[in-house]
Amino acid sequence: MKLRQETGLTFDDVLLVPKRSAIRSRSEVDTSTELVRGLRLAVPILSANMDTVTEANMAIVMAQVGGFGIIHRFMTVERQAEEVRKVKRSESYVVENPVVIHPDETIKTAREKMVAENVGGLVVVEDGGRLVGMLTSRDVLLAPEGEASVASVMTDRDHLVVASAEAGIEPARLKLHEHRIEKLPLVDRENRVVGLITASDIVKVQKHPYATKDEKGRLRVGVAVGTRPEDEDRAQACLEQGADVLVIDIAHGHADHAMEMVRRLKMRFPGTPLIAGNVATAPGVRDLAEAGADAVKVGVGAGSICITRIVTGFGIPQLTAIDECVQEARRFGIPVIADGGIRTSGDITKALAVGASTVMLGSLLAGTDESPGVSVIRGGQRIKVVRGMASLSANVDRQRLSQEAELNAEDWEKVVPEGVEAAVPYRGSVVDILYQLVGGLRSGMSYAGARTLPELWENAEFIRITPAGQRESGPHDVSLL
Ligand code: XMP
Repeated sequence: MKLRQETGLTFDDVLLVPKRSAIRSRSEVDTSTELVRGLRLAVPILSANMDTVTEANMAIVMAQVGGFGIIHRFMTVERQAEEVRKVKRSESYVVENPVVIHPDETIKTAREKMVAENVGGLVVVEDGGRLVGMLTSRDVLLAPEGEASVASVMTDRDHLVVASAEAGIEPARLKLHEHRIEKLPLVDRENRVVGLITASDIVKVQKHPYATKDEKGRLRVGVAVGTRPEDEDRAQACLEQGADVLVIDIAHGHADHAMEMVRRLKMRFPGTPLIAGNVATAPGVRDLAEAGADAVKVGVGAGSICITRIVTGFGIPQLTAIDECVQEARRFGIPVIADGGIRTSGDITKALAVGASTVMLGSLLAGTDESPGVSVIRGGQRIKVVRGMASLSANVDRQRLSQEAELNAEDWEKVVPEGVEAAVPYRGSVVDILYQLVGGLRSGMSYAGARTLPELWENAEFIRITPAGQRESGPHDVSLL
């Protein structure tokens, strides 16, 4: 039997050794990190590409607070691209393609368009894109005549305040304030609409100073894709909507077809950062890095809803996996994402202290308002559902999606699940959860005397603990209220 001599360790097997610290307040700690080379995050936390965790709502809030969301791939290409579009349109310095309407359209059509596009105003343009007016929801709110034209209620061009395409955000803010208006169309010399700046977007910029944004001020978002040839088109469709990062998402990322997909995506989209995974060993990291991956996702069987280790017998305890993978990833200068098994802010600190640059969270975020699905009452408690992407129901849903037909009993029986479905307590907004997690991480970094993540990597020292030490680490010998 070929047997490794080391013992595989995970979060509960160790504690971090407290170090001398000159940090007086958690606010002195900087948690910023690198998702992939050149793309920095203020908060080293990603929401998992799972269908009970990340769609547009989650990705928007993750990016607003300085983290990052990865939209799962278990939906049609069109829907995934639409989720990306929602994130990219949710805020920006300049809305590049504002929703427009022709002046001869009816108020009824305008109302429908505002609802469908989820906007509070329409830019009124003639054929050729020339600006003739603005229509806001207030203009149409109580208009009695639905069939009347947009032109009859809009604010016309002569009464509009506009700015040139080159207007910066600060002059735009001043102009919006000076005229007490909420929308500022941008026009070129021929009076053609080239963009729109809104007061609400400027407020969002001020409200989320650490947001993860692209050069246009739009929130950043990633998308997961598989390894089939048609997944290249999935990637293309999402990139056309502005996706910032691609993630090759398969359970066993150290597979020839994963490396092949890394090469294909890198060839077709050379400028797009590419994360690949999941792996748990140094050779896995090496092969993905050599194929062109810009970061690797580490974790096999560590997730809360995983049964891979039980079903297949494979896996590596997560801290050891991160440690081994980080050492290899550093040779290639690429970051490691620690994915799976994280239950507390202490686990986040440990995963980062071993050398990961970011962590990915699944079930810890699944109980929030921003995850897909609704909360329900079970046994007197409000819960939400989280499911492994290799669980029975997720497998069946996936087949349903690809065959566009109901499955029969035989199809169900053929599934060999490697994940489970579970309930997690409803937890309110993800903003509050992240506040607690980041607060815990900051505190953890101060125990290590580390102001930055590289200092945490440098200073971290672990001590192995026994089951007795583990018991001592939680509340004990008291009755919890
Ligand atoms: P946590 O512990 O944060 O883990 O909920 C989330 C990660 O678990 C992985 N994942 C799975 N692993 N079978 C598995 O073996 C599954 O069905 C499954 N679904 C998700 C994935 O890496 C995710 O980010």
